[in-house]
Amino acid sequence: DGLPPFVNESMLDLTIPANRTGFVNAIADVRGKAGGVIPLFIGGKDVTTDDTIASTNPAKPAEVIARVCQGGKPEVDAAIEAAQKAFPAWRDTSPADRAMFLHRAADIARRRMFELSAWQVLEVGKQWDQAFHDVGEGIDFLDYYAHEMLRLGAPRRMGRAPGELNHLFYQPKGIAAVIAPWNFPFAIAIGMAAAAIVTGNPVIFKPSSIASRIGYNLTEIFREAGLPEGVFNYVPGRSSVMGDYLVEHPQVSMICFTGSMEVGLRIQEKAAVVQPGQMQCKRVIAEMGGKNAIIIDDDADLDEAVLQVLNSAFGFQGQKCSACSRVIVLDPIYDRFVERLVKAAQAIKIGPSEDPANYMGPVADASLQKNILEYVKVAEQEGKVLVKRTDIPAEGCYVPLTIVEGIKPHHRIAQEEIFGPVLAVMRAGSFDEALAIANGTRFALTGGVFSRSPENLAKARRDFRVGNLYLNRGSTGAMVERQPFGGFKMSGVGSKTGGPDYLLQFMDPRCVTENT
Ligand code: NAD
Ligand code: ALA
Repeated sequence: DGLPPFVNESMLDLTIPANRTGFVNAIADVRGKAGGVIPLFIGGKDVTTDDTIASTNPAKPAEVIARVCQGGKPEVDAAIEAAQKAFPAWRDTSPADRAMFLHRAADIARRRMFELSAWQVLEVGKQWDQAFHDVGEGIDFLDYYAHEMLRLGAPRRMGRAPGELNHLFYQPKGIAAVIAPWNFPFAIAIGMAAAAIVTGNPVIFKPSSIASRIGYNLTEIFREAGLPEGVFNYVPGRSSVMGDYLVEHPQVSMICFTGSMEVGLRIQEKAAVVQPGQMQCKRVIAEMGGKNAIIIDDDADLDEAVLQVLNSAFGFQGQKCSACSRVIVLDPIYDRFVERLVKAAQAIKIGPSEDPANYMGPVADASLQKNILEYVKVAEQEGKVLVKRTDIPAEGCYVPLTIVEGIKPHHRIAQEEIFGPVLAVMRAGSFDEALAIANGTRFALTGGVFSRSPENLAKARRDFRVGNLYLNRGSTGAMVERQPFGGFKMSGVGSKTGGPDYLLQFMDPRCVTENT
């Protein structure tokens, strides 16, 4: 394809002084720019509305990051009209030219790496390194999907029957509604949007209100990259006002959603109903929640296991779909593992994510805080609490880091996604029982095993049924291309972001046969 091979962005190295000052300066710079009114972006133009939502810093709720204009039904209609206008020319733009826009967007994001990360520190309370990796992952998606489009863009000759020429090729589906969560606010949003755009589908992008200023970063980037008008439209809005309307709109051909199981299932249901004037079956790509487990075998390397379980359970306050929320420990090693886990969890530094000395920060929003505090109460009722860190700042959306033992498979704490720093410890009498517990939820997203037994690792490979299984490694931090990411069962439709199957879901295949 003439392009350099795909390579992942590097991780943040904070031993380099320029990286430390880069972050400090970027946070100050972003803080200086915060608080303004953010418009919608429709058909290449800014559009303001009277209704705004203030997005705030979860560590200091009085600090307004932005007042984001909210779109309603008229704005959805306007964005769909703009996308429809843009569609024929964008569909007929060559895959190479479409890919070029993504590479351009990646270059812009790379140039703004620290600033884009700083918005996340302030708007959703992400730690420096986690925010930097999120932006890096977003850049990876842009570059990887650009490469993938070149691979898929050329017609493929099928069969070798004499007197017949068969070509298989793909065309875009149409207008894509891209509906994003707040937890990987740049990476997931730009990944879904980039996949739709590069395959030729104009996008109506609805960010989560908790991260809608970060969502506007996409507008800034695609605008600077020079995408034709109407190919990317930014339409934040209240889900209760415009969510169903967007999903049900007869001109929307596909919905690319990442978020909770509840909303994902609702979207699938709504999208299945054919509306007056609708001309095609809608495709729904839905990446949803998890209830991920890590198994600690009786011969596990505990130095690694304790560290990785902590990272997986409490990194970004446990607010990752991939986070470990159940650790299943084999009986013979239970006491030793739990003692070390508890000690380590008690040593974790908790405070504003702006200060890189803090390992854990606030959760992203007051509504999430309330929900997690409810689950902490449930944990106290269902099991025995081993750790409940109440030494947390009084101001801001903090919740206690909580570890609870005595949790049984039927408990709510073992079955429901909490999406916060609450870890259930479960005891298993055998490796087979541990696997049965691990598989015993509606979800199937990520999982991990710490073991030195080749036999048990092989068993896990076969029988630990999740989308992303990690052997002797934590359950978070999938890398684009290296670990195509996503789950099945109630965790999603098996679409695997950052992998070779992803773009196919944004297109319809056609086959042309010529009798020669
Ligand atoms: P959410 O489901 O509350 O919201 C996701 C998006 O859907 C937001 O933009 C929201 O505004 C929108 N939305 C809500 N109701 C809607 C409706 N009726 N119609 C249309 N859109 C609607 O999820 P969240 O709190 O933003 O994110 C956390 C969830 O996302 C967790 O469950 C997590 O596991 C999941 N997640 C999954 C993955 C994955 O790859 N599987 C990745 C990240 C997050
Ligand atoms: N891709 C993210 C991870 O693996 C969700 O942690």
